[in-house]
Amino acid sequence: MTRGKGLECPPLLARSKVQAVWGIKGGVGKSTVSALVAKASSQKVNKVTLLVDTDFRDGSSRFFLGEEARRLEGWYDVLVKGGRLEKYLHRVEPNLYVVPSGTMDSAMKYSMMIAQKGVREVMKIVARTVSEIQEDFDLVVVDVPVTSFADVPILKCMIDSLRAKNTLVTQASAPEIRRTLKLVREAINLLPSLLVVNQIHPRVLADANERRALLSVILEIVEEGIKVIPIPFSGELYEHINWNSKTVEALEECMAYLLWGVGDPKWCNFATRGLYSPEIAKMVASISSPSA
Ligand SMILES: Nc1ncnc2c1ncn2[C@@H]1O[C@H](COP(=O)(O)OP(=O)(O)OP(=O)(O)O)[C@@H](O)[C@H]1O
Ligand SMILES: [Mg+2]
Repeated sequence: MTRGKGLECPPLLARSKVQAVWGIKGGVGKSTVSALVAKASSQKVNKVTLLVDTDFRDGSSRFFLGEEARRLEGWYDVLVKGGRLEKYLHRVEPNLYVVPSGTMDSAMKYSMMIAQKGVREVMKIVARTVSEIQEDFDLVVVDVPVTSFADVPILKCMIDSLRAKNTLVTQASAPEIRRTLKLVREAINLLPSLLVVNQIHPRVLADANERRALLSVILEIVEEGIKVIPIPFSGELYEHINWNSKTVEALEECMAYLLWGVGDPKWCNFATRGLYSPEIAKMVASISSPSA
């Protein structure tokens, strides 16, 4: 079988600060993870961070701008009408800025543009828009809408064009993790720099065998040099993010440690309900895959 298919596109940025958060299944937590990574980066690591919401239906800007986020102009309006993204920045915290996805009408026009001009041409517009803004930031987190199998090549092209790091979000069952990785590897030869194993069921954490089985899949992936962050299912993340809770605070601390080596590995023990010992957290943090 030939590998490395998919639509590979030449890099258009000399350097990139983009971290694209994506997944091939709806509702796995892409927007939640985007918001958590952006918050960890801005609050715990003091990086000036931009969160770009590119999902007009229910993307991550809702966690910072509320329901109003859906009605605001933003990302897709700039791509289809021109102008600069900085006009649509919302400063939600001293170090954290959010761009809403923009209107549904513009999102539809963007899809039409891809169909008419071709994905490579459209990526030139995307890259120009990102290059105009990214110099003002240390990190640009992009919340990508669910990517159907048919659209994975377009996503791959975007990642290549923007030289983006990519964070893949999956649900926490061992078969689902394996299936997803196999698919992205074999179908398009794309390896994530970071894998987030989300919504771990409390039963898995409570049952010694299930817990061991999940951890062993995670460690296999870690041994391949991919950072993995496991996130338990938590009421504090359900429907909205409770930013003031101890659980969410611990997750932000753990992400800061695993991604940027900032802080203390003990937070990961708390955040993963004991799945990651401080030793495992140290091992994951020491992987030099470019996740930040
Ligand atoms: N670890 C978690 N624990 C509990 N609930 C979670 C967790 N992660 C995500 N959720 C909830 O699952 C739902 C889907 O999450 P989210 O919107 O982040 O997923 P998504 O992958 O971005 O979805 P979409 O495919 O629609 O873009 C939301 O109600 C969210 O609050
Ligand atoms: Mg989403």
